[in-house]
Amino acid sequence: MPLRPKARSSRAPRGRLVAAMAALVCVLPAVAPSSDAATRFSGPTSSQPLALSADGGLLAVANPDKGTVTFFDVSSSDEQRLARVPTMLEPWGVAVAPDGVKTWVANTASASVSVIRQTAPGAFAVERQIAVGTEPYGMALTPNGTRLYVSNARSSTVSVIDTASDTVVKTIAVGPEPRGIAISNDGDGDDLDETVYVTHFLALLVPGKSEGQDDAKTGRVSVIPTATNVVTTVGALQPLASTRFKANGDALGRIPPGASFSFQTGAYPNQLNGIAIRGGFAFVPSTGVSPNGPLRFDVSVQSLVSVLDRGSNTDAGVTRNLQQAIAQQENPTRRFVTVPWAIAFEHAADVGWIASAASDVLVKITIDPATGAPAVRRDPSDRTRVLEVPTGKNPRGIVIDPTDTRAYVMNYVSRDVTVIDLTTSPEQVRRTLRSERLPGKKTRQAKILAGAELYNTSIGTFDPPSPGQPPITGRMSRDGWMSCAACHPFGLSDGATWIFPSGPRRTIAQHADFDPSDGNGMRPLGWSAIFDEQQDLERWVRDVAGGAGVIVASDGVTPHASVAAFDPPSASLRQLRLGGLRALDALATYVRVGIRAPISPVAKTDPDVVAGRALFTAANCQQCHGGASWSSALVRYTPPPGAGVIVNGQILGELRSVGTFSNVALNEVRADASAPLGSAGYVPPSLLSVFALPGGFLHNGGAATLDEVLQNVTHRASGTGGVDTLSNPSDRAKIVKFLRSIDAASQPIP
Ligand code: HEC
Ligand code: HEC
Repeated sequence: MPLRPKARSSRAPRGRLVAAMAALVCVLPAVAPSSDAATRFSGPTSSQPLALSADGGLLAVANPDKGTVTFFDVSSSDEQRLARVPTMLEPWGVAVAPDGVKTWVANTASASVSVIRQTAPGAFAVERQIAVGTEPYGMALTPNGTRLYVSNARSSTVSVIDTASDTVVKTIAVGPEPRGIAISNDGDGDDLDETVYVTHFLALLVPGKSEGQDDAKTGRVSVIPTATNVVTTVGALQPLASTRFKANGDALGRIPPGASFSFQTGAYPNQLNGIAIRGGFAFVPSTGVSPNGPLRFDVSVQSLVSVLDRGSNTDAGVTRNLQQAIAQQENPTRRFVTVPWAIAFEHAADVGWIASAASDVLVKITIDPATGAPAVRRDPSDRTRVLEVPTGKNPRGIVIDPTDTRAYVMNYVSRDVTVIDLTTSPEQVRRTLRSERLPGKKTRQAKILAGAELYNTSIGTFDPPSPGQPPITGRMSRDGWMSCAACHPFGLSDGATWIFPSGPRRTIAQHADFDPSDGNGMRPLGWSAIFDEQQDLERWVRDVAGGAGVIVASDGVTPHASVAAFDPPSASLRQLRLGGLRALDALATYVRVGIRAPISPVAKTDPDVVAGRALFTAANCQQCHGGASWSSALVRYTPPPGAGVIVNGQILGELRSVGTFSNVALNEVRADASAPLGSAGYVPPSLLSVFALPGGFLHNGGAATLDEVLQNVTHRASGTGGVDTLSNPSDRAKIVKFLRSIDAASQPIP
């Protein structure tokens, strides 16, 4: 008989409850498995870090930082935590069988799926681990639960698991970085007539376009029928021609900023994490990239919802910019909905909910069933505002029960679940369930978590200036517009090239800012070595994100008047505090130890990798790309720098010229349309996990592939005094294979 946590009518003391549940195993009549509620989901499914059984009674929630999954009995309004079960490393995806008996967990850093069985009501045991691809992340079950689809983000494959035998029956090759999964549900007992939609996390360049253009890229969704398990189509989600936010210049058009905000800006969908199906459409929230300068808070990242027409598998042409609805409010306490990360639909209505990971709210959308066009709902109790339901910190997933009475939200940073009552108007928070413990006050773990909080938030809540006063809030960006993670998802790179104050700059992943072997030495920051401390990024918060900032004057509140890139050292200045910790120092700790380098799917023992490593060494690439950081650049002084070290705003001695600076490239321009930095060279980038970029290599994204990087003779011969040892394309192919294998498990080259 299927084991499900029993529905309870009243709260019972814990001990007695367990005894009562044990007794129930014997007294409950066998539940007929033919009942639809127990065996089939009532709507399309989607990948999330939390999941419900088909009857909505059992909730499983992943705790990626703790390597556990927490089970809750949510069958009554007296929600109870049942158990916390250890999995492997970084569980991000969870799927619960329709009958609640088995739960699968994608262990992103362990290349496995854990199978957890409910052995008695409320009792859970890990039954086995299924080996899948590298960095499994998203998971979704077919409507009757017979097949489990798993996106392997780094091996660019989707594993199909037969859930009766828990074996991989097929591995489907797909495009780069598959993440979100949604599966249709036609309501019958056959799982082999459904369609699987898989998002590719980072957008890809459109042929003929240049990095830095607002329409440079498209988002991609692979379409896979369950009957054949092959990709039949890759749908392209198109850039939005007008975000409705205007800039006061056009860097690529060489028009410097002026007084009037009259330049239309566009944005392309990037960071496609979540996807959900409603009717004939699939909906994909994304962070819109609007890279052309000049940048300010509202013409940089956007919050898009793209719509794929499931009939044609093409963009339905009704993309909505969520930020636009917020802007129309024009009220002083507006909060933009930044980094729309997860989406779910109610079952009986064309109503969906989107979790804004940076702004800690859910927004409600309604769908026009004919066109798919999404609309943002207003708050029925205050029509001047968009309805925003508060969540915990950094919401990353959302599921809705089959009767549309509850929504459950997984909050990554606060490690809890927000339970939302969907039956009230407006919908409101019912309670919060603790999913995992928080670290003890002022411990190292607390520091890392505080840093992660700052990195992911667009708002920022800091300790009150003195006891009894309200917390200081809203300092990380203007009106909650931007978070660090908006361009550095998981602390890494969004793959975008932004037209920045110093020139075209591809976002740099932060996993190798510090020497990964000891966490000490730090590379100079930025392609042009424009900062020498993590705390210097405070300038970014003020200058681009429009926030009041974190470095304060002696009163502990007023933004400090003179925060500079080099002198005085930013870390020496007074900072706002978070849980008693210096906020920017916590951010630096998070960067130092809290960001994991992507794991390469390429075997270090592959003969081409071994040969490529020898060629790399022979070409003396390690002169600039050596050591545990895979970059030889280093801040070689304790800030502030001595006289003469900084030239033209750059730590000049750390720059190397390898023939990649080209004044004629369309995107070689600064945000203010003046000539860019670069003639003195660039900081050699880290090659650690360089494979994770889908393209757009070099400072300006100018090389589409790693081989294209090495077609530059000046660069590839720069370690050997200009002698070219790599003119043979097959040698270069081996080096590329080696480059694609480099991750934290590779032996560095001194
Ligand atoms: C609009 C996108 C965007 C946002 C938002 C953003 N970054 Fe960046 N980040 C970039 C780009 C692009 C670069 C490369 C800049 C350069 O070379 O000058 C970069 C570089 C960096 C670097 C240098 C890394 C290195 O190894 O050289 C650090 C540190 C950094 N960002 C931290 C942050 C922090 C902290 C925040 C939040 C306060 C943040 N970023 C917000 C796009 C962004
Ligand atoms: C003299 C120093 C130097 C040497 C030697 C050198 N590089 Fe580089 N490398 C750089 C610099 C500087 C950049 C950044 C250039 C730019 O962005 O325009 C770079 C960029 C790269 C990138 C792009 C990384 C990214 O994140 O976009 C790759 C890949 C790379 N180098 C591989 C190699 C290989 C392989 C060799 C040996 C054949 C080599 N390099 C030799 C300095 C060097």
